[in-house]
Amino acid sequence: MSEGREGVDTVGLDTPPPLAVDRLLDDRETRIIVCCGAGGVGKTTTAAALGVRAAARGRKAVVLTIDPARRLAQSMGIDSLDNTPRKVASAGAGGGELHAMMLDMKRTFDEIVEAHADAERARAILANPFYQSLSAGFAGTQEYMAMEKLGQLRARDDWDLIIVDTPPSRSALDFLDAPKRLGSFLDGKFIRVLMAPAKVGGRAGMKFLNVGMSMMTGTLSKLMGASLLKDVQTFVAAMDTMFGGFRTRADATFRLLQAPGTAFLVVAAPEPDALREAAYFVERLAAERMPLAGLVLNRVHGSGADQLSAERALAAAENLEEGGIVDQESGKAGLRDTAAEPPGADDDTTAVDRITAGLLRLHAERMQVIAREQRTRDRFTSLHPEVAVAEVAALPGDVHDLAGLRAIGERLAAGVPAGA
Ligand SMILES: Nc1ncnc2c1ncn2[C@@H]1O[C@H](COP(=O)(O)OP(=O)(O)O)[C@@H](O)[C@H]1O
Ligand SMILES: [Mg+2]
Repeated sequence: MSEGREGVDTVGLDTPPPLAVDRLLDDRETRIIVCCGAGGVGKTTTAAALGVRAAARGRKAVVLTIDPARRLAQSMGIDSLDNTPRKVASAGAGGGELHAMMLDMKRTFDEIVEAHADAERARAILANPFYQSLSAGFAGTQEYMAMEKLGQLRARDDWDLIIVDTPPSRSALDFLDAPKRLGSFLDGKFIRVLMAPAKVGGRAGMKFLNVGMSMMTGTLSKLMGASLLKDVQTFVAAMDTMFGGFRTRADATFRLLQAPGTAFLVVAAPEPDALREAAYFVERLAAERMPLAGLVLNRVHGSGADQLSAERALAAAENLEEGGIVDQESGKAGLRDTAAEPPGADDDTTAVDRITAGLLRLHAERMQVIAREQRTRDRFTSLHPEVAVAEVAALPGDVHDLAGLRAIGERLAAGVPAGA
């Protein structure tokens, strides 16, 4: 497709290989696309835009969004949180289908409990304050639940492409670390101390040993409060049946992420911090043997007038501003008073010059931004010349409807930013 183009297969030059988004979407072997990246870079937007484009190209796609902006969610018809995918009616042209959902973290956690404990136990767990605080916001819970939901969607086999948005973590790495962190929390020392009695003797043993344990954990009880400690113990005892479950499913999802049908896209802004982070993530994916499709450089600036350099625009602006002063002085006494100009025409002329100079300065600033972004990208590419890149222009406004998502999709597929 791209053979013969300079820079495409010449590693070491500044031009990275282009990310072939349409090829990725059209490839029936692609079953899962994961959009990762630091907070606020455009993961949700990219995931939704890929979903819209995939459906338009005939895929039966589902997008799992985590934290869509309100208006975006509304435009896709997923502003109600019921934790299951809904069909996005207006995105069906082209033979495909788009379904979308917004993750409800707590609901997903509850569903796991309900699916893996008998009714009585499930009720006890769900009512337990310790469970409630864990499910509502333990660090990593959202990441874990996103993976859990991905596993569920994949198991249903109703879609031929699943596009996953990831939680708004500070770091992209959190998504990969969460299952292990949650797992080691549940397997952790603190929990095991509390679990010990229950493991030894089951329910009766728990009752019996709790008496003995109340001596051992007397200090703990003083620290935590007796009723809270009891909550923790009941919670942990009830979760006992699910311990293996969490680990096993986290491992299964991890394997799913390593499968050849999975493609990771790292989304980043063209800024040094963001790209440094993206570089870490790329290395981590390689270490985990997870397939990277490429880097989406989002909100790249462009200009329709990039033949005018920053230096020349600045020079022209200075010229105009100096000229304006001269003009004003000579204008009073000189040539212009012979013409029958309306009063104030002089002022208008200098005003135009001033505005023109201002625009030239703005243009110069933009050209400097573009140059800086390019240098930042080049630094990333010299570090990871193998990583394909798609650049998406910064649109003038937020992306909050299907038309906006289509526009992003087109830019993703084109890969190079047309003047924004
Ligand atoms: N290329 C773009 N041009 C203009 N606005 C964008 C672009 N990409 C994302 N946005 C806007 O930036 C904000 C953050 O995007 P979002 O996808 O929610 O980021 P994340 O999911 O990574 O936190 C949203 O308001 C979105 O509409
Ligand atoms: Mg988001």
